[in-house]
Amino acid sequence: MMYNNVYHHKDLGTSTFFITGGAGFIGSNIVEYLLRYKAKRVVVLDDLSTGYLDNIKPYFGLSNFEFIEGDIRDYATCIKALEGVDYVSHQAALGSVPRSINNPINTNSVNIDGFLNVLTAVKEHGAIQRMVYAASSSTYGDSKELPKVEGNEGKPLSPYAVTKLVNELYGDVFSKVYGLHTIGLRYFNVFGPRQNPDNPYAAVIPLFCKAFINDFSPTIFGDGETSRDFTFVENAVQANIKALLSDGINKHEVFNVACGDQVSLNQMVELLQEISQKNISSNYGPERKGDVRHSKASIEKAKSILNYDPLFSFKDGLALVYDWYKETMVENPAK
Ligand SMILES: NC(=O)c1ccc[n+]([C@@H]2O[C@H](COP(=O)([O-])OP(=O)(O)OC[C@H]3O[C@@H](n4cnc5c(N)ncnc54)[C@H](O)[C@@H]3O)[C@@H](O)[C@H]2O)c1
Repeated sequence: MMYNNVYHHKDLGTSTFFITGGAGFIGSNIVEYLLRYKAKRVVVLDDLSTGYLDNIKPYFGLSNFEFIEGDIRDYATCIKALEGVDYVSHQAALGSVPRSINNPINTNSVNIDGFLNVLTAVKEHGAIQRMVYAASSSTYGDSKELPKVEGNEGKPLSPYAVTKLVNELYGDVFSKVYGLHTIGLRYFNVFGPRQNPDNPYAAVIPLFCKAFINDFSPTIFGDGETSRDFTFVENAVQANIKALLSDGINKHEVFNVACGDQVSLNQMVELLQEISQKNISSNYGPERKGDVRHSKASIEKAKSILNYDPLFSFKDGLALVYDWYKETMVENPAK
């Protein structure tokens, strides 16, 4: 069902890819694509703090796959891991706005110090073709403008958003000062298989799928009219592959990665009722601090420069991931 579409136009068999955070949700999906299309070598660096070995277990027997358990904040580890690498995909970070509000020092340490370590190791290496990194829609902060357009950002609303903004500033500066080729992908609420419903900072779609599967009411923070531009993970993988390999891109660019749609949490629950054929309603709780009220991306820039074309609609993606959670939860009821 997934990754039947080919998003690359160059042979992957001649290149080595380094994926930080490759045992996490988005990272392991990028790994899946690269291995499916026979990349020469795929190296994952992950400290398993929020990622899982299960996400990459199927690849352990492959001769072109290597897993390094380690911390991106360890410079020597980053330098060593980059040996022979051509392309870098930097996904490792501590996600979640609430996590960053509870522990800003830890989020800052991983997301800024860790990012700078990887970036500096890439600079020292000297022959990396490109580093694509996970940026975030949270960078639009308090801007009320819809759709969100690259270049029209507001002020960050959370420590997490600060870290993602700083990543972009470093990406830009390293391009100007050292000539590195870096691209930031501003993900808008990515969802799909392997996103964890069980950690304390789980995202809304995994939590709501789990609630529906287990026949209990999900809790919406606020009135449910908060909206998001939910993005199925294969769309995000497409953007990553194209950002890594496309020609003719400036030394530093940022792109929105989304569908260009706006779905409220109440609409999402209605769709889940339809998909699951269950008439489960939601509970409503207080609004959360740091949350942006509405989000919808312009994806024109990614379309025109990367030839990005999100093939999975929100509804198709939701149906697909609902089935995936159903299957995994039957196989492993703890999840
Ligand atoms: N999922 C989304 O909707 C979304 C939206 C915007 C941005 N992002 C960004 O995308 C990236 C991937 O997010 P995800 O949703 O896959 O989250 P995830 O938590 O599933 O993946 C992150 C991975 O990074 C690893 N990691 C964390 N700290 C590390 C460290 N110090 N050293 C090595 N590895 C470390 C974790 O173990 C995990 O495997 C992150 O940078 C996140 O901030 C995600």
